[in-house]
Amino acid sequence: MAEQSDERARYRAPVGTHDVLPPESAQWTALVTAFAQRADRYGFDLVVTPIFEHVDVFLRVGESTDVVSKEMYDFEDKGGRRIALRPEGTAPVVRAFVQHRPRVPWKVWYVAPHFRYERPQKGRYRQHWQVGAEVLGVDDPDVDVEVIALAHGFYRDLGLGRVTLKLNSMGDEQSRPGYEARLRGYLLDHAGQLGDEFRARVEANPLRLLDSKRTEWQDVIERAPQLTEHLSDESRREFETVQQRLDALGIPYELDPRLVRGFDYYTGTTFEFQSDALDAAQNAIGGGGRYGKLAEEMGGPPTTGIGFGIGIERALIACAAEGVAPSAPPAADVFVVNGLGAEGRAEVAVLVIELREDGLRAERAYGDRSVKAQWRAADQAGAAYAVMLGQREAARSAVAVKDLRTGEQVEVPRDAIAGWLRQRRDTEGGITP
Ligand code: HAM
Repeated sequence: MAEQSDERARYRAPVGTHDVLPPESAQWTALVTAFAQRADRYGFDLVVTPIFEHVDVFLRVGESTDVVSKEMYDFEDKGGRRIALRPEGTAPVVRAFVQHRPRVPWKVWYVAPHFRYERPQKGRYRQHWQVGAEVLGVDDPDVDVEVIALAHGFYRDLGLGRVTLKLNSMGDEQSRPGYEARLRGYLLDHAGQLGDEFRARVEANPLRLLDSKRTEWQDVIERAPQLTEHLSDESRREFETVQQRLDALGIPYELDPRLVRGFDYYTGTTFEFQSDALDAAQNAIGGGGRYGKLAEEMGGPPTTGIGFGIGIERALIACAAEGVAPSAPPAADVFVVNGLGAEGRAEVAVLVIELREDGLRAERAYGDRSVKAQWRAADQAGAAYAVMLGQREAARSAVAVKDLRTGEQVEVPRDAIAGWLRQRRDTEGGITP
């Protein structure tokens, strides 16, 4: 029995992964295109890094984090190298920066699959995709604001309305160690009543405990000292500037001193976009922040960076929950129907490609289909026009064009058909002038 189900599972996508098929894939195209256009307006260029890296690249994001210690897809390759599939997008971008030393500010965006061995559920996958952006080499709160505005506007482009921006600061090297010690002390004072696991987690990383959802710990966590009350003067000034700029731009946000994102590299501004239309456990549709030390830790010059990643699947689930679709799949402009049988085959093959090269979304039926079946396929393709190759028209070096919405039909010279269709489509005027 087990063998039988293994046999069936072998030819299914692995647990926690999924295929993206049409028509849903049209939403992916629309989403990535919208992001690419927006990133371009903000001065970001595309960066493409390998899907796997030496595992050390990711150890820099924090060995005690879940993503690295529990969820990483790491393995030894045939040459004995320790390799990991990309669990997050920032470390590879910083690695590429350190390796190539581009001129700063370096502003890049990406679209890439990410791998985390998580317990799969809706909105949480073992392979998920992110669009993201990073700016390296400028320590200026105006950049923090540009990056947040880029993401904020993107959700608006998608038509999402129920998105909350949570904002926090993780402080700098002056603020952090003192605060961590104070927090650890406070939490350990209360560890007695909360058990071994609590104590172990405080020892490992007291900050990470702040966003724990464990109900029995909430009382203690809620009364814990807050980092934003222990910021250095410089950190506080920067954080205030970010808030003032967001106010000036009319970008609403909520301060959340317990927002501790899942990586150790964050310093300064951190943020998360949460969808109120999704379940709390998977409501983060994007997040990011500033990281001060990552480049240096990889052997580069001291370089600060800031960026974010947006989960494509989650953003689309939020769109569905809010009833907004990034785009309907585009219908064909024209469907070519061969009414000449075997004689017309070469002409269909050539005409469809010519039309496409001329900028039209042209479709056809393949194989030996009856004329009736071809008309049916034209309807199914949602085409606006059909071009029919018929005996009478062929004798005059012409084709018949039918407007499939009105049923009107006219004859157009074969040589003029592409221009004729394009003009109709662009003016949306239908067949009758
Ligand atoms: P992250 O918060 O771990 O940040 O992931 C970014 C987004 O990816 C999340 O907000 C969520 O929408 C989506 N996501 C994460 N894990 C999954 C999953 N298992 N299934 C589906 N979607 C998921 C980062 O990865 C940082 N590199 C972001 C960043 C960039 N920080 C600075 N620059």
